[in-house]
Amino acid sequence: MTHPLTILGIETSCDETAAAVLRLEDGRATLLSDIIRTQLEEHAPYLGVVPEIAARAHAELADGVVAKAMAEAGIGYDTLDGVAATAGPGLIGGVLVGLMTGKAVAQAAGVPFIPVNHLEGHALSPRLSGTCPFPYLLLLVSGGHCQFLEVRGLGDYRRLGSTIDDAVGEAFDKVAKLMGLGFPGGPAVERLAAGGNPQAYDFPRPLLNRPGLEMSFAGLKSAVARVADAASTDQMKADVCASFQAAVCDVLSEKSRRALEAFEPAHASVSLSMSSGATGEKRFVVAGGAAANKAIRAALEAATKEQGARLIAPPLRHCTDNAAMIALAGAERLAAGLVGDDDGLDAGSRPRWPLDEASALAAPAYGGGHKGAKA
Ligand code: KG4
Ligand code: ZN
Repeated sequence: MTHPLTILGIETSCDETAAAVLRLEDGRATLLSDIIRTQLEEHAPYLGVVPEIAARAHAELADGVVAKAMAEAGIGYDTLDGVAATAGPGLIGGVLVGLMTGKAVAQAAGVPFIPVNHLEGHALSPRLSGTCPFPYLLLLVSGGHCQFLEVRGLGDYRRLGSTIDDAVGEAFDKVAKLMGLGFPGGPAVERLAAGGNPQAYDFPRPLLNRPGLEMSFAGLKSAVARVADAASTDQMKADVCASFQAAVCDVLSEKSRRALEAFEPAHASVSLSMSSGATGEKRFVVAGGAAANKAIRAALEAATKEQGARLIAPPLRHCTDNAAMIALAGAERLAAGLVGDDDGLDAGSRPRWPLDEASALAAPAYGGGHKGAKA
């Protein structure tokens, strides 16, 4: 029996202003509140997220969203054991707003501030509901990232493969723009694809026949661009979307099959206290915004079954950006004693912050340059 931890989490790295209160007791998380204020309306006229508008909106909304999360949880600030906020990666203006808000609340409440890597939030999101003990294989498919990671334990991640150009969500967003479907792109493409023929267009499956777990989606998007103008009727548009989505599903399911073959839970080094799961079971988690896509989930389910593994996908609400996963990452870090004295109020923002820093430094998959690798 451990002392329960009550944590406020704050997420502001992209276009959702979110706050959640979570209680962690004996390794089990209970959500006391979970507020997500999306900025879709603010960004829709521009067909994409405008960083400056996002930063201003976060600044206006953050206080109210935090107050609502505390009120719905029905607790006072003196009940908190810590405050966690996304410190990166993400759009720097928004990250700064969340970081400053979190630090201010932590200081006022006299509790530790816990800077959280947004990607760690996604990586731990399956642990919000039900059981998902370490270790597991993770496919992270969001607007900015597409990678396979071995999640060996808290803070212990190994990159197995990644996209070399666009992320999956980014490809959906670009295709939506090409097809004039508006923003956000992913759900719009999925909706239209439901009424289309996935075999109507023979789009490429980039890097499918190349060994390994590297992926690429930029060429697929270019192939869509070449037919987009000619697809004038609603049915043709639906066919383009369905064919594009089918190509993405083929790539993800084949690469997942390979990743599952290579993933050996017994070899993933994990401390015994953290691995309480059924021994020998291969768990495969899909997380991030594009994990909300039902066709992608179905394709991964089939690949996972074939490999005798178990697919775990967080509920749709916790696939896209939310503060519950940030609160959980903060709570797990605090419980494990991973919150250092120098973290708290000195914590800086990190627009780029790979989960597996060693691999990103040794062999940046993409996004190098002065800002550093994205993966
Ligand atoms: O994880 P997320 O909310 O934010 C990032 O951390 O990036 O992911 C957002 C991305 C967007 O690119 C969005 O188009 C994509 O996830 N997405 C989807 C779907 N819902 C969201 N992509 C495909 N199908 C969906 N249903
Ligand atoms: Zn995200």
